Amino acid sequence: MLEEVTKTYQGQKKSAVGGLTLEIPAGSIVMFVGPSGCGKTTTLKMINRLIEPTTGKIVINGDDVTKMNGDELRRRIGYVIQAGGLFPHMTVSTNIGMVPKMLGWSKEKIAARVDELLELVSLDPEIYRDRFPKELSGGQQQRVGVARALAADPPVLLMDEPFGAVDPITRQRLQDELLNIQSEVQKTIVCVTHDFDEAVKLGDWIAIFNEGAQLEQYDSPERILANPANEFVENFIGSGAGLKQLTLSRVQDVELTDAVTTTAGANASDVLSQLQSVGANYAVVLDSRQRPLRRLTRRQLSRAQIVEGTMDPNLPSVSLQATLNDALDTMLVASTESAIVTGRRDIFEGVITVQTVMEAIAAANAAAGGDGEAPVGLNSGAINQVAIEDGGARS
Ligand SMILES: Nc1ncnc2c1ncn2[C@@H]1O[C@H](COP(=O)(O)OP(=O)(O)OP(=O)(O)O)[C@@H](O)[C@H]1O
Ligand SMILES: [Mg+2]
Repeated sequence: MLEEVTKTYQGQKKSAVGGLTLEIPAGSIVMFVGPSGCGKTTTLKMINRLIEPTTGKIVINGDDVTKMNGDELRRRIGYVIQAGGLFPHMTVSTNIGMVPKMLGWSKEKIAARVDELLELVSLDPEIYRDRFPKELSGGQQQRVGVARALAADPPVLLMDEPFGAVDPITRQRLQDELLNIQSEVQKTIVCVTHDFDEAVKLGDWIAIFNEGAQLEQYDSPERILANPANEFVENFIGSGAGLKQLTLSRVQDVELTDAVTTTAGANASDVLSQLQSVGANYAVVLDSRQRPLRRLTRRQLSRAQIVEGTMDPNLPSVSLQATLNDALDTMLVASTESAIVTGRRDIFEGVITVQTVMEAIAAANAAAGGDGEAPVGLNSGAINQVAIEDGGARS
């Protein structure tokens, strides 16, 4: 809870944050959006006192933050810095274990926690724990950043554009992971983003700021999209509002298609005849933990003796929490008309097809009254339109 908080940087006339009052409900995700320089980072840093407010009060769970000591505060608040912010000369495990070490945990307890967190953000501990940040991709670094913030199990997590520096598909995966993590370990999360779609996807609540951290609207994504408070918010949402409704629909909200599944080492011709009998084009190969590895087409199966179990790094897959926009993106990038759907712990759930997504778009548009905004029908032209809309919003 922020009460009438202001921040005026030394030597500046205008306040970076001018009289902000904002309640952040425990256990929910609040997204901060707004133009560059409007005070989002400043507000975030005041919550864990990396920046001291000039005036006002910040209360977390009934305790006045300004009266708590810094260490105590950092134990309770995890912080993910813009673009990862890992210490370059420390290994992944040292980076993640830093706060637990400061808290005096034993070596064994820290090591166990590091591995647990790496699993949580889908990085194999055996492969990654002893690497240095420069030996990781941008997306992997950001995952380590998230793992580090979660290390001491803080009830509050602050994230400053945590997924800013990665490509759209990786970004989508990281967003899904965050939602998965949130469903497993309920935190209060405050997250800054430039991307309104991301705010809609992740946020229980969205705070739209104007210059000086002036709050223009603070509401649920649904209500902001349906009833923008003023022209500023309308402009911020952008002209694709009709399609942005799609960001509200999740893969888990639509009916998935079944698929023939198999495992490595199975008899290829058995699988092929199974495909023929149900009229399917490909089988999904699962590992021993029910996680999808690859797809095998009829053609590939007809050439093989046994089912191949190598992992296809380009397998088009989305999680249940991905939005329909994400699913469409994934299919377009892979030039395929369906994508594999995974649930918790990457377990196979089914398949989503382009038809399913297009039908959902049509239904959403019909429900929205079809007021002439971005007309979308069931044809390939519509797919292109969606793709262009989406690309524009992200760039
Ligand atoms: N350390 C500082 N000293 C002086 N002025 C600062 C300092 N940090 C930020 N500012 C100013 O305060 C205002 C708010 O900055 P802030 O970093 O909070 O914006 P932001 O909303 O996070 O922007 P962005 O989206 O670009 O990250 C800006 O006008 C900025 O120039
Ligand atoms: Mg910022």
